[in-house]
This record gives sequence, structure tokens and C-alpha cells, in this order.
Amino acid sequence: MIDVTFLGTDVRPAGTAVIIDVLRATSTITLALSSGYERVLVAGSIEEAEQLRAPGRVLAGEVRCARAPGFDLGNSPEETLQPRAPELVLATTNGAPAIVAAAAIADEVLAASLLNLDAVAARLAGTDDVLLVCAGTDGRVSIEDVYLAGRLSAALDGPRSDAARIAEAVAASYPTSRDALEASAGAVGLRREGLESDIAFCAQESIVDAVPQLTATIDAVAVLTRAPAGVPAAATSAGAPTDT
Ligand code: MLT
Repeated sequence: MIDVTFLGTDVRPAGTAVIIDVLRATSTITLALSSGYERVLVAGSIEEAEQLRAPGRVLAGEVRCARAPGFDLGNSPEETLQPRAPELVLATTNGAPAIVAAAAIADEVLAASLLNLDAVAARLAGTDDVLLVCAGTDGRVSIEDVYLAGRLSAALDGPRSDAARIAEAVAASYPTSRDALEASAGAVGLRREGLESDIAFCAQESIVDAVPQLTATIDAVAVLTRAPAGVPAAATSAGAPTDT
């Protein structure tokens, strides 16, 4: 069954939970791992991310879309194009907490963006019990996340829930991904902060092959690495990663 939940706070146990925060957390994670960061350490809050500061790590995160005070980077995907260290620590308002929540209850957790749309769809082929988790924006359902959930759902075979059909209908109502992103509340916040170039960047489809995958949780920090190429999730799912 392919199912969708429209808010990251509504994540539930699933075989494979696919976290979606197009603007911008999962786009940033995708690009960071594609660019050469070895691990992304996703923290549930800005304060928790600060506790993770250490040599070999770069801190990235946002508060109301702007770079968090004292952090090395904001949450613009392009800021990760030139890795500065092996590990990126990331804290964001909606996407990061959704990943941390899913890490605690899903057998497998992946992160999807438009940037890796085809790679995630290929990875999910043949996978049962897929939950597409739309992170949302400040507790509200967001167009861009539902748009991507609909695109992914439409790309997969198998039975789907009514929620998945709703997401597919939303996706079909926009001529392009850029149209969907520009129409969203998340885009309003980015324009307010002078970060409108992130909207066009995050609207690019399937420009990288990296599929971020949860490989461990350490003290409620979700550790994501690049999934091995070409291995369907169905072939690797082996139960929820445990604290190490
Ligand atoms: C979030 O997690 O809420 C977003 O990624 C916010 C942002 O990028 O500004």
C-alpha cells in the first residue's frame, strides 16, 4: 500500500517512511550527500544541533528560513555543494523533526526531494507499505510537499490509499514543479528572506542520484547516509535501526 500523511507530526509506523520537505530540508540533505558529505546528522532542534558541534562537522539550519544564529550554513541546498567537512549537522523547523520522528518508528526511512525524484522512485519499486510523509510548513499542509508525494505515488505501482490519490490529484493540477513550489506558503517565507533562488533550485527534477537513508539513530539524532546505488528498499529493509 502506498499511503500519504500530510503533516510530519502525523508520522506513523511504516515499512518505509519517505520524508518530504521540498522547501528545503530534504533538498538540502539530498544535495549534501550527493556533493560528498559522508553523513548528515539530523537534529530535532537548533539547541540539539548546537550540542553536536565538533571538529569534522559543519552546522546548518534555519529559523524562520534564515540561517540560525551562530551556524555555519543556512538551509539552502546550494550551500552544501562544496563540502567543508565529512559531516553536516542539520536542524530545521519542520523537515528535521519529521525525520527524527520517523526514525523512531519506521522500519526504514528515506528522504525525497524533486532533486532525486527518479532515484527515490526507482528505490521504492516493489516496496510494500510505503508512507510518504509530507513535512508541511509550520504545522500546516504545504503544496510543494503534497505535490512531490503525488508525483512519487503516481510513479509507483500497487494499491494506494485515498490520501495518495488526493496527492496525485494535487500534483496533476500544476503544469510544472516550479508552479507548485511558487504557489506555496514556504515560497513566501523564502522570498521574505531574499532566498527566492532556492525555489527555482529545489524545483529541479532528478538532477542527482543520491537517496538519503537512515542508517542509525544516536541519542535521538538521525544519521542519514547515501543509500547504496541500485538496491531496492524492499531488498535492504531489515527492521528499524537501533541506537548505537
Ligand atoms: C523546514 O524544515 O521547515 C524547512 O526546511 C524550512 C526552510 O527551509 O526554511
